Amino acid sequence: MSGQSDLGAPRRFRSADGGLTAEMQAAFDSDGYLLLEDFVDPEDCDRLRSRALELVAGFDPAEHRTVFSTASRAHAAAEYFQSSGDKIRFFFEEDAFDPAGELRQAKVLSINKFGHAMHDLDPDFEAFSRTAKLRRLAGEIGFRQPLLLQSMYIFKQPRIGGEVGWHVDSTYLYTEPLSCVGFWFALEDATLENGAMICLPGAHRQKLRTRFLRRGGALVTETLDSSPWPDDPRVALEARKGSLVVLHGQLPHFSGPNRSDRSRHAYTLHVIDGACRYPDDNWLRRGSDMPLRGF
Ligand code: FE2
Repeated sequence: MSGQSDLGAPRRFRSADGGLTAEMQAAFDSDGYLLLEDFVDPEDCDRLRSRALELVAGFDPAEHRTVFSTASRAHAAAEYFQSSGDKIRFFFEEDAFDPAGELRQAKVLSINKFGHAMHDLDPDFEAFSRTAKLRRLAGEIGFRQPLLLQSMYIFKQPRIGGEVGWHVDSTYLYTEPLSCVGFWFALEDATLENGAMICLPGAHRQKLRTRFLRRGGALVTETLDSSPWPDDPRVALEARKGSLVVLHGQLPHFSGPNRSDRSRHAYTLHVIDGACRYPDDNWLRRGSDMPLRGF
């Protein structure tokens, strides 16, 4: 399912103020994604990128060497990952280290991502995440009580940027009933060469297949339904810098490795509805001193 043949192009829209037309609403309902070009000013993308590089500069890789891999899932056993829900923590690309354990590229070119609460802990990330435009958009797609649950800064580094296997975000950010929606911002142009996302439009209407949850002291994946996702149609979510892709929490998506010389920085913000139940066995937890907040 990870080949790149027979890929369709996404429908593309624009929204100056976060409002959606009936056509855009219908597209999101039927496709499970909505690509909004020029949603963020290029200067705001650059500001977030600069802040991300500052945060990486302040991270000492001698302290924690947790690799994030959707293939090996090595990160899931690490306490550093398990307790990152209300912190800012850094995870390396799987191919960041050579056999001797040394970084192959500079630290700033070795981090896979950091997360998961910048939107509450860092003023620049908070300013990017809590805007009137996003608040309006969240209301337009049906949120009554949007809560900002998780933020991630994803580097998709040149040459070593790792693949992210097929998944849906509600597997990881589960509520009853399901309510997770991802807001994925292209901070640089995302193309198939540098690891743009690929999705299965319409498959968000299918049942949730798996849940990633805490059992005992471990994080495990529980199968709820073992039927495979369809192979097609598939759409390549190539997106220019400043684009926002709204991803329904049950939309299957994937991104290939980045073997190109260009990074593909993206910022993601995941929102759930406060009217829904957030089970205690979800992997992502917060301290009682940091309750979830809206826009
Ligand atoms: Fe995802």
